This record gives sequence, structure tokens and C-alpha cells, in this order.
Amino acid sequence: MAHIRKGKLKGGKKPRLIVKTPDMTLELVDVYEGGEDTFEKNARFLYRMLAQRDETINISHKRMPLFKNHCKFIKTRPYKYWYLIIVDDVMAGSVYISKQNEIGLFIYYALKGQGIGRTALQKLLSVHIERPLYANINPANVNSINFFTRHGFKYYKVLYNHRGQVIQNTYELI
Ligand SMILES: CC(C)(COP(=O)(O)OP(=O)(O)OC[C@H]1O[C@@H](n2cnc3c(N)ncnc32)[C@H](O)[C@@H]1OP(=O)(O)O)[C@@H](O)C(=O)NCCC(=O)NCCS
Repeated sequence: MAHIRKGKLKGGKKPRLIVKTPDMTLELVDVYEGGEDTFEKNARFLYRMLAQRDETINISHKRMPLFKNHCKFIKTRPYKYWYLIIVDDVMAGSVYISKQNEIGLFIYYALKGQGIGRTALQKLLSVHIERPLYANINPANVNSINFFTRHGFKYYKVLYNHRGQVIQNTYELI
């Protein structure tokens, strides 16, 4: 079982969201923590993560934005909570909860299948106790559907496009 370190206060600020397991030390770090000093580095990592989304991950076909527009988007603070997932001091993914309580969880492609998604999701769910939470998943993304259903999410609703094709399934955690 993962040993979850109680939030340690640093500089009188927010508690740090750290999980230590035998395999890794994982931390959820607020994307905006560090201000302008870390913004560029964080934005570049999130941009690389965005570029990894293929048609089975994106709900609808989206083109890559220009980096400067991606930065503007981040600065609008589009999500209620948005974290970088840092594993053993390396950026490994990102996770957010939207203002509509939707989770977006993305692990760097080369690091998938090592328990990082599971550890990050468990930490997120233990810190943010609001429910229900939702996961919107492309029906072709079987890995992700299996992942979220293994973590207690249940099928909730389906979204069709104008041609009657299923473009998104929503799973709910109550
Ligand atoms: C779906 C996604 C978030 C899962 O993250 P992940 O880090 O690959 O997932 P994990 O490795 O934690 O878990 C997957 C399985 O890998 C297996 N696994 C392989 N090696 C493992 C290890 N060393 N430790 C633990 N589990 C391991 C486990 O069977 C695990 O199953 P579990 O969920 O029952 O624990 C990730 O694949 C991803 O980013 N997908 C693309 C983006 C996406 O589709 N996001 C969802 C829409 S929001």
C-alpha cells in the first residue's frame, strides 16, 4: 500500500501533494506554482503533452494551437485545479479537474503502464473530495475506459455528433 505523506507546509503555502510508493515518489504540483519563473517550462511540457494526443484521445479533431496561444489559454486559468504530475523529479504528466468537475488525466506516452496514472488519480481523488466527478472518454480509447472503470467510474451518458455517431462517453464517480 502506498504510504501517503501528510501535507507538509512549505513556506506557509499550500500543503504539498506527495505520494511515496516503493516504486516512485509522485507529486502533484499546481501548474501556476512558481509564477513567471516556471511558467515557460511548465507551458512547454504541457504543449508537448498536447501534441501526444491522437484521434483516440481527443474527443473531436483539434489542430495543435500555436505555442503562444497555448500560453494564453493556460493563463485564462481554464480549470478549477490543474497539476503537473512529477515522478522522481521528472515531469510525467498532467491532470486537471474542470469547472464542470470533469477530470483530464494524461501520462507522458513513454511512461504509461507503470502505475503513474493510478497513483496520481488516487491522490487527486483523496484531496479533492467533491463528487460527482466525470471522465469524458473517446469510445475508441479502450485503455482509458478500462482504467477509469477500474477506479470506480460508472458509465453515465453518451454524446453523439450530428451524424448520429458516438463521439464521447461520460463516466461518473459518485
Ligand atoms: C489512461 C492513462 C491516464 C492511464 O495512466 P497509466 O499511468 O498508463 O496507468 P497505470 O499504469 O497507473 O495503470 C494501468 C495499468 O497498468 C498496469 N501496470 C503496469 N505496470 C505497472 C506498475 N509498474 N505498477 C502499477 N501498475 C502497472 C496495471 O495493470 C494498471 O492497472 P490498474 O489501473 O488496475 O492499477 C494513460 O494511459 C493516458 O495518459 N492515456 C492517454 C490520455 C487519456 O486517454 N486520458 C483519459 C481521458 S481523461
